[in-house]
Amino acid sequence: MNELRHLMTPLDFTVDELDRLFDKADDIKSHLASYAHSCDGRILATCFYEPSTRTRLSFETAMLRLGGKVIGFADASSSSASKGESVADTIRVISCFADICAMRHPKEGAAMVAAARSGIPVINAGDGGHQHPTQTLTDLLTIRSLHGELGNFTIGLCGDLKFGRTVHSLIHALARYSGIRFIFISPPELKVPDYITEMLKSRNIPFEEVIRLDDVIPSLDLLYMTRVQRERFFNEEDYVRLKDFYILDKEKLSRAKSTMHVLHPLPRVNEISVDVDDDPRAAYFPQVQYGLFVRMALILTLLDLTDEHMNHGLLKW
Ligand code: CP
Repeated sequence: MNELRHLMTPLDFTVDELDRLFDKADDIKSHLASYAHSCDGRILATCFYEPSTRTRLSFETAMLRLGGKVIGFADASSSSASKGESVADTIRVISCFADICAMRHPKEGAAMVAAARSGIPVINAGDGGHQHPTQTLTDLLTIRSLHGELGNFTIGLCGDLKFGRTVHSLIHALARYSGIRFIFISPPELKVPDYITEMLKSRNIPFEEVIRLDDVIPSLDLLYMTRVQRERFFNEEDYVRLKDFYILDKEKLSRAKSTMHVLHPLPRVNEISVDVDDDPRAAYFPQVQYGLFVRMALILTLLDLTDEHMNHGLLKW
């Protein structure tokens, strides 16, 4: 019996473990039907104290496609958190019902508190402005699939680099691969936090900070657009001033490489014009589907069920 394993940040997995996870996700993508009973009899709990469309439904779809079942709540007001129950108590209760739990919470560190008290694997599905590791796994699998490798590219991260937890998780994860140059594109108020630029400096990883997307778009292999995170602003006035700072439209995209890929964790507000959606470089909807396959692979990995389905159900000799 392996020891209980959680996912709090993408760095909880080594690069080799991530390679295996992505290989598994690729295999699931190619042989979806052969995984239809991989989690028979298992239950996933989704405990979402904050709104979500993709992450919650993608986890639930992942478990259903693996043959398991799903329980949970989609907002704190419909759970006993509204009566004052702590996350630590809630996870002890959920551990009596389910085999694995995906948790989203507005407070940084909430998933870690849960993991410390849990009897089942806990997956951080987003904790405040801190980390969103399964979005990062989604982004890495998308990049590996579309670019062909996790390394040797210039990536522009554009928009709200201060509050965007997907950006923070992704930079930390990409910093482990070689040949990557980061270009951070944001207004001064929404710059990437200093602790991240200090980390890059200490590891001699090249990065630039710029304000104008137009100046750098021709040099990018990947462009990661992000939404301005209204829910994390202290006042509405600042949000309104900054919310439409960047809008990627057809005209701007015409200056990019024909091979560049545009990613976005979604939801989108105005930062990518809908006229970009039909451009072959727009990868943000395929990215959602990669998220499903990687979450299926993650559930199998944390439940220690990966080997049982090698060779698609055929006996290994
Ligand atoms: N990308 C993402 O986390 O989307 P949701 O907030 O809809 O889950």
